[in-house]
Amino acid sequence: MRQYIYISTAPDLSRSEIDLILASCSRNNAERGVTGMLLYNGRNFLQLLEGEQEDLMWVMRRIASDTRHSGVSKLEDIYTEERACPDWTMRHIRLVDDVDARQSTLEAELPDALDPQLRRTILNFAALN
Ligand SMILES: Cc1cc2nc3c(=O)[nH]c(=O)nc-3n(C[C@H](O)[C@H](O)[C@H](O)COP(=O)(O)O)c2cc1C
Repeated sequence: MRQYIYISTAPDLSRSEIDLILASCSRNNAERGVTGMLLYNGRNFLQLLEGEQEDLMWVMRRIASDTRHSGVSKLEDIYTEERACPDWTMRHIRLVDDVDARQSTLEAELPDALDPQLRRTILNFAALN
């Protein structure tokens, strides 16, 4: 099984557009056995996806050709025995407005089983403005 993290750019997506994305996630990810989380800071997405390689590539092909965002860039792609987010078809984590408080509030929401390297990558993203 693999865990994959990418970032992308999508200035000013509305809450309802994000809800549409999440609806696609629950439609497709459950069927493909893909789990993970999605963070949005008002300008950039970071998404963690986990699942079997073939299923991840199926989802990533769709995501990469989605015109709602651009500049999709891979940050992490690691082998794992176990999922960090087995119960989340796609958890949307809202980043709090106060950038200084983001890392500590996010830390409390990240799953315990998350690989330390992936945790650092996600927390670094949260600190960006
Ligand atoms: C930042 C971002 C993350 C997305 N994540 C997923 C995802 O995890 N799974 C998924 O099926 N679609 C995801 N999408 C949507 C896909 O790009 C695509 O619109 C969708 O898979 C189409 O499927 P549908 O016809 O069932 O809605 C994402 C889109 C964006 C912009």
